[in-house]
Amino acid sequence: MNERTTSRETRYVRAGSDPHRQGGYVNPPVHHASTVLYRDVAEMDASQADPLKRGTPVYGRFGTPTSRAFEEALAELEGGHAAVATCSGLSAITTTILAYVRTGDHILVSDSVYLPTRKFCDSLAALGVETEYYRPDADGAAIEELIRPRTRLLYLESPGSTTFEVQDVPAITAVCRARGVATVADNTWATPEFCRPLALGAGVDAVVHSATKYLTGHADSVLGAVVCTEESYPLIRGAAIRLGQCASADDVYLGLRGLRTLSVRLGRHQEQGLELAGWLAGREGVAAVLHPGLPGDPGYGLWRRDFTGASGLFAVELEPGFGKPDIDAMLNRLRLFGLGHSYGGYESLIVPADPVSHRLPGSWAGRGPLIRVHVGFEGLADLKQDLEAGFAALLAGG
Ligand SMILES: Cc1ncc(COP(=O)(O)O)c(C=O)c1O
Repeated sequence: MNERTTSRETRYVRAGSDPHRQGGYVNPPVHHASTVLYRDVAEMDASQADPLKRGTPVYGRFGTPTSRAFEEALAELEGGHAAVATCSGLSAITTTILAYVRTGDHILVSDSVYLPTRKFCDSLAALGVETEYYRPDADGAAIEELIRPRTRLLYLESPGSTTFEVQDVPAITAVCRARGVATVADNTWATPEFCRPLALGAGVDAVVHSATKYLTGHADSVLGAVVCTEESYPLIRGAAIRLGQCASADDVYLGLRGLRTLSVRLGRHQEQGLELAGWLAGREGVAAVLHPGLPGDPGYGLWRRDFTGASGLFAVELEPGFGKPDIDAMLNRLRLFGLGHSYGGYESLIVPADPVSHRLPGSWAGRGPLIRVHVGFEGLADLKQDLEAGFAALLAGG
């Protein structure tokens, strides 16, 4: 679809959609498929001529019309060349990193990344790949000082999904592009609705998603995706093929269905999230609310410049001094905020978080305990009442 003549709203509805490719039905069928049968040997041979297995049906693991429809729609919404669906967000991340690194390489990773991403990067030492973490609150252009001749890749998450630092991605991509370092961004928090890192400054080389979260949006699937440029696509699709990456038929269908309403849902997450974050900021027991959309947040300026909105995920830093029993008492008192991992669904969630245990020395020392909040679609008055009860339990002590 032509971006200049088509509004954002229309793109959500039409991206990757071709009802007449599927007998006129609005949505593609869910292809539960492994084997693809050929009419004759010539057709079988022709299917082998496509090394990235993109256009021709070959075998279920290489994709089906359902996964292609999801990939096409997401690539269009992110402004990418093509996308690769994977079985989870973490598999999208590991596949992309493995596509780039070789023994002897050095990679830069922001200190604020999702913890399993960090654990995977640490495990690369066994393959002879050195991971160096950089502070996400440092000046973006200062990344130049950390680049070595062996630096192959910079991986970032902005904002970080626990501590919400926003990075100067245009400054980082400018330096990396000039120095021949590939960049990959996890865009799970913002989604293409609120940020498109492929177009930020010099642009990243690939965007990874936990489609499990906002893209699918209903806490009913586990799915990942990588959106690539024309240059990065063969590398990343090739790695996905070699690693045996694929996504289940039902999950890619749910991912595609989620994309159709992403814009509407994200608008509501933003509205409710900002309102609740502002309300929490003034409460007794709260040291800070970590939400880049709040004026006064350290990331607010960059967020205003590079993002068009904020999703419903943020963190509350409690006053230092609250211990585990106090926080347990608070969380156990909540009735609407579900105590559970993940985010991006229609339901509100809350989890305690402990960045101190794994962050760079000094980056979180001395700060209060964190709780991470995901704001869903329940009534705001109900959510506030629930939190009021939780804070009463916190302040009363565990
Ligand atoms: C920012 C971010 N990236 C990646 C992942 C991993 O996604 P998945 O659970 O789909 O593997 C998560 C999951 O919480 C996440 O928050």
